[in-house]
Amino acid sequence: MLTIAVSKGRIFEEALPFLEAAGITPIDDPKTCRKLILRTTREDVQLVIIRATDVPTFVEYGAADLGIAGKDVLLEHGAESLYEPLDLGIARCRLMTAEHKDAPPLSGRIRVATKYVKIAQRYFAKKGIQAEIIKLYGSMELAPLVGLADCIVDLVETGNTLKANNLEPRELIMHISSRLVVNKAAMKMKNRAIVDLLNQFEATLANKG
Ligand code: ATP
Ligand code: PRP
Repeated sequence: MLTIAVSKGRIFEEALPFLEAAGITPIDDPKTCRKLILRTTREDVQLVIIRATDVPTFVEYGAADLGIAGKDVLLEHGAESLYEPLDLGIARCRLMTAEHKDAPPLSGRIRVATKYVKIAQRYFAKKGIQAEIIKLYGSMELAPLVGLADCIVDLVETGNTLKANNLEPRELIMHISSRLVVNKAAMKMKNRAIVDLLNQFEATLANKG
């Protein structure tokens, strides 16, 4: 049995063509079903439906053999303990700094609100900027509006969320897409099945052009 960890929402939706091309269609729809383990049209493959940020943990501990996770989540988790053989090119966005549109240039010690604490720490340290990082779990855009932070580090796709909150994107930290990750022991123990799946995903990627 192969277990694949995937989060509900955009990653699941965008990963579905890859899964379906490999003959993997969940029997129940995760949008409507409360089950956390989903059997699929392939008897040898099941999906576990978890929070996006938990995917590297499940795969690292071998609770799932494979997973699909954003590069943002993998970097923040510190995913050296996983194989990351394939960039699926889905859930594309950018990790950026953003500030109030009328904010004066940043100077001195700044406060940064983000859920990406490690990434932000590394980024500002590299730039030689003293930054106090404030961990939030969501709605980062609010922080500069209420004086909690000078700046945020968050994902930007269309820019609509920033714009709606009078913020502007400033510096690009990195381009983000979702990756297939594999547990290292599973890669040895279930090599044939995992390599077959990888090849099928690669073929889908090639067909997408
Ligand atoms: P969690 O449930 O663990 O808090 P989340 O709410 O951030 O995570 P999603 O919004 O489904 O979960 O995001 C999952 C992944 O999709 C992110 O880690 C990122 O890689 C990507 N992503 C997030 N927002 C966007 C966006 N607006 N456009 C494209 N990709 C995005
Ligand atoms: C993500 C991200 C931004 C927004 C950016 O939030 O955290 O708030 O998308 O996208 P945009 O540039 O197209 O507006 P998401 O929609 O996933 O909401 P959540 O973080 O609350 O889950």
